[in-house]
Amino acid sequence: MGLYPYADKYPVVRAFPEDGRPREAILREIEEMAETEDSPYHEGKISGSIYSGDEEHYAFLNEVFGHFSHANVLQRDMYPSATRFEGEIIAMTADMLHAPEAVGVLTSGGTESLMNPLLVARERGRERGINRPNVVMPVTAHPALLKGAHYFGIEVRHAAVTDRFVADMDSVRSLVDDDTVSLVGSAGTYPHGLVDPIAELSDLAVERDTLLHVDGCLGGFILAWGEDLGYPVPVFDFRLPGVTSISADTHKYGFGLKGSSVLLYRSAELRRHQYFIVPDWPGGLYTSPGMSGSRSGGIIAAAWAAMVTLGRSGYRAIAADIFATAAAVRRAVEAVPELRVLGDPFFNVAFTTTEDSGLDIFLVNDFLASRRWRMNGLQRPSALHFCITRPNTQPGVVDRFAADLVGAVAYAREKAGTPARSGAFYASGVTTEQITSGMEWWLDATQAVPAAPA
Ligand SMILES: Cc1ncc(COP(=O)(O)O)c(C=O)c1O
Repeated sequence: MGLYPYADKYPVVRAFPEDGRPREAILREIEEMAETEDSPYHEGKISGSIYSGDEEHYAFLNEVFGHFSHANVLQRDMYPSATRFEGEIIAMTADMLHAPEAVGVLTSGGTESLMNPLLVARERGRERGINRPNVVMPVTAHPALLKGAHYFGIEVRHAAVTDRFVADMDSVRSLVDDDTVSLVGSAGTYPHGLVDPIAELSDLAVERDTLLHVDGCLGGFILAWGEDLGYPVPVFDFRLPGVTSISADTHKYGFGLKGSSVLLYRSAELRRHQYFIVPDWPGGLYTSPGMSGSRSGGIIAAAWAAMVTLGRSGYRAIAADIFATAAAVRRAVEAVPELRVLGDPFFNVAFTTTEDSGLDIFLVNDFLASRRWRMNGLQRPSALHFCITRPNTQPGVVDRFAADLVGAVAYAREKAGTPARSGAFYASGVTTEQITSGMEWWLDATQAVPAAPA
């Protein structure tokens, strides 16, 4: 793939063209690339990434987006619709997470929704005289939290997880001290899709008078329906008194377009800490509710449209298919004696090889990748996860997965002792070649480090 993935098909633009090209020609190229790149998800073989996959839904959202794509929501006097959309998205999410009185902000995605609560925790800590703040979170918590802590000068204290891969409360307790400004738990975790013991974290947060952020970026908009559907999803939301903020991504299981997430706070008093105001700037009084400046009204309108077009019943129906498919995937894994499932997942099934089998899970993945499955590779321990989204719920997908899994284990046995091509690289491809090309892109894009020689 490399740095010029379409060089064999289209001329590479290496300098600013003097004259423009006809729109039809540009659109043709765009359509060709989009069609090629979207085709694997239609087969239902991709873990995570494409959450709805309903083409009609996307067409509807794109139409909505088009009406406000050019609108800058900073200019609320011009676009009061953004105020309506944002307020109603927050109200619906707060209702879903059992806190009609909660307040919130819309952000650009999960990362921003995780960084803001850390800033809030630091600022609240400062008001209380904490100058060397720390945050305690299990090792499975998303790295965006580490990024936030890095940006804001907060020490991260990593708690261990149990053999069920959720936060080990003894470990959490042992790390908390008077400088702890926040605890974090996930519902569910990226690696294994599991729900940390949020009720116990909540008790501890109340006991220590510290904040507790629940990372529901991935799981918020899917686990919330589990209870209605009769699944034993533990309570993870504002019903627990120690939970002070929750993030839930509209651009994941909220089925909106990419670039939106909801961050809720239990009180306006907490949210205030993330506002930024410069009263005397020559450009005028500057106020901003979060990290971004200009934002497109289209994304907000599309998130709102996704929620109101589906309604609770729409989300519940899709969630029912996703929970059932995940259960079937889990059964398929458990039917193979050389494999085991990590923890007790509802929608994102992580699995690895048994110790007795001695097989390399990445060899298992090599075979799956050769059959066009795109699992996500994990480490510590080495494992894969299959995060079930709507395209995976199509009839026949789980049966094909079950059959290929058996073939994959036979392949791993045959190739035992040889190095696997796949590995654990977040949000990248599954094979070493794909990972390397992802790395090359990153290295090149940062321009900080020369790209490795070809
Ligand atoms: C649990 C969890 N939190 C946060 C994020 C980060 O979200 P984003 O990629 O939207 O920044 C992810 C992404 O998958 C996630 O799974």
